[in-house]
Amino acid sequence: KRLILVGPPGSGKGTQSPIIKDEYCLCHLATGDMLRAAVAAKTPLGIKAKEAMDKVGFFYIGELVSDDLVVGIIDEAMKKPSCQKGFILDGFPRTEVQAQKGKKVDKVLNFAIDDAVLEERITGRWIHPLSGRTYHTKFAPPKVPGVDDVTGEPLIQRKDDTAAVLKSRLEAFHKQTEPVIDYYSKKGIVAQLHAEKPPQEVTSEVQKALSA
Ligand code: AP5
Ligand code: ZN
Repeated sequence: KRLILVGPPGSGKGTQSPIIKDEYCLCHLATGDMLRAAVAAKTPLGIKAKEAMDKVGFFYIGELVSDDLVVGIIDEAMKKPSCQKGFILDGFPRTEVQAQKGKKVDKVLNFAIDDAVLEERITGRWIHPLSGRTYHTKFAPPKVPGVDDVTGEPLIQRKDDTAAVLKSRLEAFHKQTEPVIDYYSKKGIVAQLHAEKPPQEVTSEVQKALSA
């Protein structure tokens, strides 16, 4: 299957992705994860992306990076053999231009959720940067605080996971990404999820949507 996961920051896209991937054996491409890795490695692309993601190192603004840059990253990543039969795109496309330039897809999972619950999810999130495993101090705590369950390595918080940056990320979502949902709705391929439910219930909804 060729799938797109769309939803505001903290709606659960990254949490559900590994489950979908394990079950359907697809390639999983998350533009946010790919951009953060490029920024950390200070590649030429990462240096450009950093401008929009975390300006001047201490002041995080949460704007989208340019369409050309992410379309380029996705095109390159899609060449992988594992991505030829199907894929899950998490966080792409995020603008109408990206949707028009992207590949044809079968299904769009819309992680619909009220803005009001997202601040708690975002500010309580901890991640294991190498694997992308995600935890939450209240909703999905690791066995030992601050430590990854699988590797024992330290967990970190994303620099854009503050209440202030969340505001601008949400603004970008409503202005630039909601039109993408309308774009696919017109094609009749959007499945609505109740993303405010507990993770296991969201997983069941995902499975139902994918078997339909
Ligand atoms: P990106 O990394 O994609 O961030 P995002 O879209 O803001 O989404 P998040 O990763 O914050 O949320 P999520 O839905 O994955 O939530 P999660 O499952 O972790 O993008 C970052 C930046 O990169 C952008 O701001 C932009 O600058 C740039 N970028 C990326 N793609 C781009 C593109 N295509 N074009 C331009 N720019 C781009 O869950 C959050 C927390 O909640 C976790 O702690 C989790 O444990 C918990 N949780 C999850 N589900 C539940 C549940 N059901 N109940 C309770 N808690 C839950
Ligand atoms: Zn994510």
